[in-house]
Amino acid sequence: MVFSHLSGAAVTAVALLSTFSNGLPAGMMSRFKRDDSLKFDFGGTKVRGVNLGGWFVLEPWITPSIFEATPGNVVDEYTFCQTLGSSEAYNRLNSHWGSWITEGDFAEMKSIGINFVRIPIGYWSVSPLDGDPYVQGAYDYLGKSLDWANSQGIKVMIDLHGAPGSQNGFDNSGRKGSIDWTQGSTVSQTKTALNKIRDDHASHPAVAAIELINEPMGPSLDMDTVRQFYMDGWGNLEDSNVAITFHDAFEGVNSWNDWGNGMWNLLLDTHHYEVFDSGSLAMGISEHLSTACGFGASMATNNKWTIAGEWSGAMTDCAQWLNGRGVGARYDGTYNVDGTGSSYIGSCSGKYSGTVSGLGDADYQNIKSFISAQISAFEKADGWIFWCWKNEAAPEWHFQNLTAAGMVPQPLSSASGC
Ligand SMILES: *[C@@H]1O[C@H](CO)[C@@H](O)[C@H](O)[C@H]1NC(C)=O
Repeated sequence: MVFSHLSGAAVTAVALLSTFSNGLPAGMMSRFKRDDSLKFDFGGTKVRGVNLGGWFVLEPWITPSIFEATPGNVVDEYTFCQTLGSSEAYNRLNSHWGSWITEGDFAEMKSIGINFVRIPIGYWSVSPLDGDPYVQGAYDYLGKSLDWANSQGIKVMIDLHGAPGSQNGFDNSGRKGSIDWTQGSTVSQTKTALNKIRDDHASHPAVAAIELINEPMGPSLDMDTVRQFYMDGWGNLEDSNVAITFHDAFEGVNSWNDWGNGMWNLLLDTHHYEVFDSGSLAMGISEHLSTACGFGASMATNNKWTIAGEWSGAMTDCAQWLNGRGVGARYDGTYNVDGTGSSYIGSCSGKYSGTVSGLGDADYQNIKSFISAQISAFEKADGWIFWCWKNEAAPEWHFQNLTAAGMVPQPLSSASGC
């Protein structure tokens, strides 16, 4: 016994220390604020936010009408611009940017207790690359939205949602398909975009956080490269008064405790969904609730401020095109992508009408419980940002309508379930 010469108390102390080695003491370090200049009391006040998804980065399921007005090969913002050509793409996008979210939305958010918005934006709107088909203009609306948020006292996380080459191959990175981020000059181009966001907006009173990159696909990338990018990105922001936000890269919400020592103002973003694999989709309501509670409990053991920066009320993937334009649902077995099929769990037909007001009684009650439980789970850690504020036809993902329908706890602090 190595510890046989120690007193009982010392053995206990050693045991506690080793318990805490991926817990509290390192946390004191990683939660370190260099000064009091952060614009939000992370760790003290819970982040209660919504994502402005589908605004500056198109997604087929958030705004199907925009895609339905295009040929079937248009599956993301890249192919949208490429297929329509720059002047038609600009006309349609500019009209979308000017109407999808307006100043009035921020007042409504404020009135229901929202204190944060996460605003996804693609690199192409910040520092476009030669040869890209993308069109310009979203960045000006981003600037306006910061003032709208500020006038309501709402803080903003600017989230670099699409990186050159695509960091995950998802349509929501701007370009669906291969994962080419980290190839060629893409990492330095990503830093160029982040530095421009910093120079233009980090000192804005509403901008409390900047996220280095959304959902880099860790299992398909070289994680040493991802960690180096995070460290360099942190270095470029360390003198800005923003929480330097990094996604867990799908490496597990508890996998970052050993990283980041000596760095301050770090905020870990993890995304919690229970609809993107057949195992989750097969769960009943009580399993969905307990899974959410367990996830919140593990978030809370981290040594860094941790938020669920994306989550929703969904327990099926039946929302139209949720898995991509023209792609079916795993829930009813119609999903089949690249030879990866799915098997029937339940019927999507008649499941939802496409609106919150069309939900059946059982779905209404279950989704309401699921939302409340998740809020109470994520508030065991440092908070949450719902995906998303609004959309055209996916009821369980529509925070504005879910709240109006009485399915989101009011006040938000009354959430319960975990
Ligand atoms: C949200 O509410 C608006 C206003 O009532 C309605 O027109 C729209 O269809 C709703 N959308 C969803 C997804 O519930």
